[in-house]
Amino acid sequence: MERCAVLSVHTEEPGRLTRRYGSPALLAAREQVAGWMAAAGLAVRRDAAGNLFGRRDGATAGAPTLLLGSHLDSVRDAGNYDGPLGVLTALACAEALAERAEPLPFAVEVVAFADEEGLRFHTMYLGSSAVAGSFDPAWLDWTDDDGVTLATAMREIGGDPAAIDSARWAGGPLLGWTEVHIEQGPVLEGLDLPVGVVTGIVAQTKIAIRFTGEAGHAGTLPMDRRRDAFCAAAEATLACEAHARTTDGLVATVGQVAVSPGAANVVPGMVHLSLDVRHPDNEVLAGACRTMRERSEAIASERGVAVSWETLHDHPAMPSDAGLSGALERAVVAAGLPVQRLPSGAGHDAAALAAIGPTAMLFVRCAGGISHNPAESVAEEDVAVAIEVLDRFVDDLMMTG
Ligand code: GLV
Ligand code: MN
Ligand code: MN
Repeated sequence: MERCAVLSVHTEEPGRLTRRYGSPALLAAREQVAGWMAAAGLAVRRDAAGNLFGRRDGATAGAPTLLLGSHLDSVRDAGNYDGPLGVLTALACAEALAERAEPLPFAVEVVAFADEEGLRFHTMYLGSSAVAGSFDPAWLDWTDDDGVTLATAMREIGGDPAAIDSARWAGGPLLGWTEVHIEQGPVLEGLDLPVGVVTGIVAQTKIAIRFTGEAGHAGTLPMDRRRDAFCAAAEATLACEAHARTTDGLVATVGQVAVSPGAANVVPGMVHLSLDVRHPDNEVLAGACRTMRERSEAIASERGVAVSWETLHDHPAMPSDAGLSGALERAVVAAGLPVQRLPSGAGHDAAALAAIGPTAMLFVRCAGGISHNPAESVAEEDVAVAIEVLDRFVDDLMMTG
């Protein structure tokens, strides 16, 4: 908990926590964790994407590796736990391993991914995609709001865009990836349970939409002659909301809006929107995105506004691995707790890492289910339970893995 507080000091914005990919704040947080890893006796390495790893070798060469961790980047005005808690509970687990007498039949590697949230470049799972080998080199040319490319940001944290392929996992057989994360929802709190085992991650599509109308004078352009891009965008947003409200399990969010030219006395000529749509079922999600696109196009056309629709990411639902989750469940039982399974509506690096090995996740109760918000909060006792479960999970894998 103290370490989470220490990391929260590394922010780009005074008074609130914002840690984007490639920023000095991310670099500082990463180097802080690197120092803790080194002090724990782990072998520290950084990859071409800017991810950080701290490794404790297994007793024999060629032993498989268990990856434990999470991410160090954040959303804008974030809480202290989304990401850091998973890195630091993994570190606590690795520290406890140092005190064990018996040899480890597998290596344990603590991972701190450099970008999961995609705040700066609209990426998804940037860090873990590089490790999974699914990093699309076209992303290197994507720019942030200031026109800085992802490639430049990568270099600024010591990464190497030209060598991004070298970040792909090359450490031999993987026992899997396991992440501790705050639940970011209210289920565990409602059940009065400190932890739960994640069944899988919902399918998610991220879309960039542009409405192009015509800028004009706010005082002289009659209402019936306007091609107002913002009014079209607003109506389309409400149509997406209405569709999500009437489709079971569907969530749709317009989280970013940029209005051009952006002056109080100018009719908006262009609007960029971000649209994030999620559902547990891939087909339902695909159908919903089609419907939202059709409605947006119809609304724009009625208003004489053009619309362009670009799907940036399309991640299918990702079930957790039954074997690795079974080991987590046995660890929960060994800690004296009932097993509660629950799905994740949030995206996590497991969605990318499942391409290279089994994945499992442990959720920790968070107050009010609040997340992506500075009010994010976890109880110290619950974090202690999560660390105990992780320790027992490693014990279990030593016997069965
Ligand atoms: C990541 O936190 C996401 O679910 O968007
Ligand atoms: Mn998040
Ligand atoms: Mn997260």
